[in-house]
Amino acid sequence: MSKLTIRDVELANKRVFIRVDFNVPLTEDGSTITDDTRIVATLPTIVYALQHRAKVILASHLGRPKGKPNPKYSLRPVVDRLRELLDKKLGAKVNVAFAPDCIGDVASEMARQLESGQVLLLENLRYHAEEEANDVAFSKALASLAEIYVNDAFGSAHRAHASTEGITHFLKPAVAGLLMEKEITYLGKALESPEKPFVAIIGGSKISGKIDVIQNLLDKVDTLVIVGGMAYTFQRALGVKTGKSLVEEDRIDMAKEALAKSKVKGVNLLLPVDNILADNFAADARTQTWDCSKDFPEDWQGLDIGPKTIAAIEKVVATAKTIVWNGPAGVFEFPRFAVGTNAIANAVAANKTATSIIGGGDSVSAINQAGVADQITHISTGGGASLEFLEGKKLPGVEALTEK
Ligand code: 3PG
Repeated sequence: MSKLTIRDVELANKRVFIRVDFNVPLTEDGSTITDDTRIVATLPTIVYALQHRAKVILASHLGRPKGKPNPKYSLRPVVDRLRELLDKKLGAKVNVAFAPDCIGDVASEMARQLESGQVLLLENLRYHAEEEANDVAFSKALASLAEIYVNDAFGSAHRAHASTEGITHFLKPAVAGLLMEKEITYLGKALESPEKPFVAIIGGSKISGKIDVIQNLLDKVDTLVIVGGMAYTFQRALGVKTGKSLVEEDRIDMAKEALAKSKVKGVNLLLPVDNILADNFAADARTQTWDCSKDFPEDWQGLDIGPKTIAAIEKVVATAKTIVWNGPAGVFEFPRFAVGTNAIANAVAANKTATSIIGGGDSVSAINQAGVADQITHISTGGGASLEFLEGKKLPGVEALTEK
């Protein structure tokens, strides 16, 4: 990586501002964390800083409170969980304090009084509209809290906000945390120098959100598997009628272009050869397995991939050396239509010699539900950020960091 990392700087007795992505799911009332994956993922950076006697200031957004304080989006519930995790990891009690605002006199004083080996978590950055506006004065106010800037929030690196971009103009060095470094290393290697064969599996409901990923991957992969709702737009592009399946009429031409590009590039573009059709969009719908070379019955819709498609995917995945998977193969929230997604999760996990990289909430859930997360090389903490990375875009939060 061309950017400085936390390992390149002297941390002892310094106030270190670490931008983390603690945008974690909470219960409806905002009181309890339901999935702490993103907190756990930043522990290596926080532990590293504490072991090097830094005074650690953590800042994050949570949800979209639209520039105003809102208790539903408070980071306060994170304090106890973070303390528990750090105590366990370090085998000693860690002092974790909470500042009720991320700027202002109270936050400044709490930051000033921090001692080496202590942690201060700031309240939600997005309680201030200036955060998302990348406001200069707000960036300066954040910068004034610390002496070193670390960005470990890969999940937010596609946002040019005050805490991810603006602050780096006033607080240097600006270095990558260990999670940021890991994400960029794995995703970057997959795009720049993947071990071949390289198989990408792209799913999800809409082609519109992923067409740039598809276009970029067509320059890199040996096989591109297209599943999920977006596959029906491709099937329409091939001239097959798809009944009531989800189709983006205005994207059929895009699908045709991608099909043409795959031929020019010599990429094996693998589309479903069979689907599970349902007579309505419901968990208990009547179903039938359908050969995709034939027009679908008018009133039926595809909600999952079929057994022949699963077998074809298993075959290409088994011999891959690099696998990138983003997006489910069917209506994953209905268990009967999660079969394809679960089969992909198991197939990716079963390949023990490939570098496997998973991104996107549903694919990560499938990996967790299948109980195979520990058999995946890298599970990205970035949703939008990992997609933009796979599109080949530069991420502002990464670009802003100091070069080595
Ligand atoms: C995410 O959950 O993808 C990141 O935390 C970014 O959140 P945002 O889409 O609200 O900017």
